[in-house]
Amino acid sequence: MHAKIVVLPGDGIGPEVTAAAVQTLQAVADRYGHQFDFQYHLIGGAAIDATGSPLPDATLQAAQSADAILLGAVGGPQWSDPNAKVRPEQGLLAIRKALGLYANLRPVKPHAATLGASPIKPHLLQGVDLMVVRELTGGIYFGDKTRSAEDASDLCRYSVAEIERVVRHAARLARSRSGKLTSVDKANVLETSRLWRDVTTRVIRDEFPDVQLEHQLVDSMAMHLLAKPRAYDVIVTENMFGDILTDEASMLAGSLGLLPSASLGEGKVGLYEPIHGSAPDIAGKGIANPYATILSAAMLLRHSLGLEAEAQCVEGCVSDALDAGVFTADLTSANPASTQAVTEAVLQRQLQCQVLELRD
Ligand code: IPM
Ligand code: MG
Repeated sequence: MHAKIVVLPGDGIGPEVTAAAVQTLQAVADRYGHQFDFQYHLIGGAAIDATGSPLPDATLQAAQSADAILLGAVGGPQWSDPNAKVRPEQGLLAIRKALGLYANLRPVKPHAATLGASPIKPHLLQGVDLMVVRELTGGIYFGDKTRSAEDASDLCRYSVAEIERVVRHAARLARSRSGKLTSVDKANVLETSRLWRDVTTRVIRDEFPDVQLEHQLVDSMAMHLLAKPRAYDVIVTENMFGDILTDEASMLAGSLGLLPSASLGEGKVGLYEPIHGSAPDIAGKGIANPYATILSAAMLLRHSLGLEAEAQCVEGCVSDALDAGVFTADLTSANPASTQAVTEAVLQRQLQCQVLELRD
């Protein structure tokens, strides 16, 4: 297959981890007979420095005509002036919104080899396999913002249609897994959450009667996620709750550097990025953990390109490398591997992937 992949390295460790994922994708192309065109564009702080905008027109146009987008991370201290009018994060929010990528899939599946890196007791982690579906283009992130000398306000708004489409996406996923769906809100306090709960209940009752729905308040969910993570499967929630709960859930896996994500809309094009940030403190040192971005590339192969065997090959290689103890410094203090050493461990294992069929 021939695919155009727009690469947005961004800031901090973004360029290092995307380079690792691009090498992985190129190895997939070589092994399975595909042609991937990688087109690099600016986003975030790097784009502000070069053009004044965190999402230049050229970047958005390229993304709109791509088959898939691979993104590193945005942000850094040099663009964090609280009074600044433009911020790197605006570029990320704007591209998610402009492409209509409302369903952010964040799988959390602790790997046996990294259980020791988690602060949670290993017996609680056995068998944990979560899929968090975070609503990505609505809520408080996108509501009107005001600021005066005396006060500030961020408006949180959700429409029925915005809730319906992400709940449907999550329900389809639940159906393909254990059939269990947990919806997280703050319906005891927030009006948007009460709407969320009503719409979710109706959509599941009318369209997915086979899906078992449970509602949880976000504060108790934050506790249950650590106390009994095995009790959950697909979790659907609004934008900010999903942001917070998935950073928390990364501790089940052992490191923020292990969690990938896929941001999807109605079409095939998706944006794939690790859930971690730009980690400016370790940027440029060659020690960042690239597994989350490599796993995001696997999600890209699966969801945007429909290459399931190739996706499983990459995921299997990551799993084998973790089994072999190839850990970056966030996972071990004993002789940690560099970003490039991890990448090479994955690339070397890709040579073993079986090519079952050749496609054009
Ligand atoms: C994430 C990040 C972003 C978000 C930031 C960088 C804007 O934390 O993707 O989880 O809050 O969505
Ligand atoms: Mg986040």
